[in-house]
Amino acid sequence: MKRFFSVADVDSLDAIVKEALELKAYPNANESLGKHKMLGLVFLNPSLRTRLSTQKAALNLGMNVMVMNMDKDGWALETQDGVVMNGTTVEHIREAAAVMGEYCDILGLRSFPSLKDKEADYNEDLFNKFMKFCGVPVVSLESATRHPLQSLTDLITITEHKKVAKPKVVLAWAPHVKALPQAVPNSFAEWMSKAQEQGLVDFTVAHPEGYDLAEEFTTGATITNNLQEALNSADFVYVKNWSSYKEYGQVYPVSENWMMDNEKLKFTNDAKVMHCLPVRRDLELSSEILDGPNSLVIKEASNRVWAAQVVLKRMLESLNK
Ligand code: CP
Repeated sequence: MKRFFSVADVDSLDAIVKEALELKAYPNANESLGKHKMLGLVFLNPSLRTRLSTQKAALNLGMNVMVMNMDKDGWALETQDGVVMNGTTVEHIREAAAVMGEYCDILGLRSFPSLKDKEADYNEDLFNKFMKFCGVPVVSLESATRHPLQSLTDLITITEHKKVAKPKVVLAWAPHVKALPQAVPNSFAEWMSKAQEQGLVDFTVAHPEGYDLAEEFTTGATITNNLQEALNSADFVYVKNWSSYKEYGQVYPVSENWMMDNEKLKFTNDAKVMHCLPVRRDLELSSEILDGPNSLVIKEASNRVWAAQVVLKRMLESLNK
């Protein structure tokens, strides 16, 4: 594996989930695979889970890790070509990425969208330039449009906790105080759509009017503006806020109550409730759910290690070929 940017970088969902669960059973089985190999984790935005779980995964594989908080400690990056750099940017991504590629065997990058320029965000301009100029395998730690390590984690978690062969999985929009990116729901929808195509899940997306995701991510999904209808017989409910894709980055007022709580859980098949975290308690998801038996959020976060480890393992194996 030379890059992990989207579900398109994975051939078989079944096989990668199985391999991740083997790593979970035997975390140190490959502890010499990454000996003398350096992982560089580059953050342009904050992180708790991605930062720690990816470091832990790398250490389990015997790798060394360097973390660069580019937003706080790096030079201001220029990403446009053909500009005279006489403003606030200090270093061009061409040099910055190439230099980091000299120090590291594998790089990870987190780069959130602007939520202002839809075209630039959805072209993944910064991420594509980083991958091009660094010259080593790159794992996405969340880009403008996707969060594949989170989505792989979510598929692993659903596989572990499902009680029927083909569970009903619902992605349910939830309220928030800020305009959030579409990366997590896009990515979850993209992975679940592929899982549905492979007969692994039955996938529904529920959101208020005006919050449609870009069509390319929801192929084959049932899409509704009726939350109660979506929750009917659900086995898993994945709660997440996102801002509008159509009116890019905008937040519309929503009059109905979309927060997931125990009242709404009654419509489901005693569904397990998931969220990528961080979560705003009693705004997106009720405390009674988060602290109750239906919540999978901590187990889900714990599984971030195995998603990162299987991806790094595959990248290390491709380096050694
Ligand atoms: N879910 C997730 O990516 O968490 P962090 O932003 O804390 O890494």
